[in-house]
Amino acid sequence: MPATDSSARGATIIGWGSYLPPKVLTNHDLERMVDTSDEWIVERSGIRERHVDGTTIGMSIEAGRAAIQSSGLSPADIDALIIATTTPDKQWGNAATVQDALGMRCGVFEINAACSGFVYSLVAAHGLIAMGATNVLVIGADSLSKITDWNDRNTAVLFGDGAGAVVLQSCDGPGELVAWDLDADGSAGPILWADVGGYIQMEGKEVFRRAVRIMVDSANKVLHHAGVSGDDIALLVPHQANIRIIQAACDRLGVDMDRTAVVLDRMGNTSAASIPLALDDALTKGRIAPGDLVLLVGFGGGMTAASALLRWGPRT
Ligand code: COA
Repeated sequence: MPATDSSARGATIIGWGSYLPPKVLTNHDLERMVDTSDEWIVERSGIRERHVDGTTIGMSIEAGRAAIQSSGLSPADIDALIIATTTPDKQWGNAATVQDALGMRCGVFEINAACSGFVYSLVAAHGLIAMGATNVLVIGADSLSKITDWNDRNTAVLFGDGAGAVVLQSCDGPGELVAWDLDADGSAGPILWADVGGYIQMEGKEVFRRAVRIMVDSANKVLHHAGVSGDDIALLVPHQANIRIIQAACDRLGVDMDRTAVVLDRMGNTSAASIPLALDDALTKGRIAPGDLVLLVGFGGGMTAASALLRWGPRT
């Protein structure tokens, strides 16, 4: 479903922020918990440490507050809040609690598209703006540490907690979003899942194989729709699951690793938070300039995938 409607009212990202809980779990800590080694984890995944023991609501409040501050708006200016998460703290009302804590008075909802959730939410936010909203806060937050079995070496080495957020504002003209794609392949659901109240389960090798395919397919649809190629991308911001998945996808998309945002060595896989965390890191390091084409590509359980191609606006 690649699309953009150039006649729709567009949006630009005017603020961003992120939050990581203070507790860090290194690969060496994991060596004392399961039969693994720092060397194996780094070689097979690229991950060195991750943050744990966050709550989805608490991290969302901090990342959301930072993004609103960076936008120069006040909480009362926000017309809608979307939180992408696959690990809500409560069955419902997570986004509403964040709204109240930040002093916002707007409509709120949560989107669960697993690790693709932030890009799904970003596209949904553009839809709200096309229909008349002015300022939308989008947060990707996940506390995977609470659904990770810390006795299972197959999964314990990969996941972490965090939150990232952006504020979108309506603008004259088409805005930053050049093209987007939301995708899913439900036949791959049984290779990566968590029952309600249960732990993350996965067939790692198969997830790896399908992840590269679904991610590249989604990204290619967007590139094709926009009439550009990997060479034109100034920065790829992929879901941060495994450095080898990112490398394989970069190879196929024709994007060098030095044009790719990578934070997973410090954060592990933080699901819906991983893309906004990597985006925030890239912006903080001055890696994005006005006019740059920035490609966000997510994939995750379901399996889902989502891509958004942005022509970065004046704010960096
Ligand atoms: N520490 C040490 N050894 C481990 C290990 C660990 N944490 N986990 C598995 N192993 C062992 C396996 O038992 C296997 O041993 P064997 O050869 O004696 O059978 C060996 O290491 C190789 O395992 P394999 O599964 O083939 O490794 P891999 O190269 O496929 O890497 C993953 C495993 C999980 C890191 C990789 O497949 C992956 O990242 N998959 C995608 C997972 C993912 O991203 N999930 C979330 C998506 S949003």
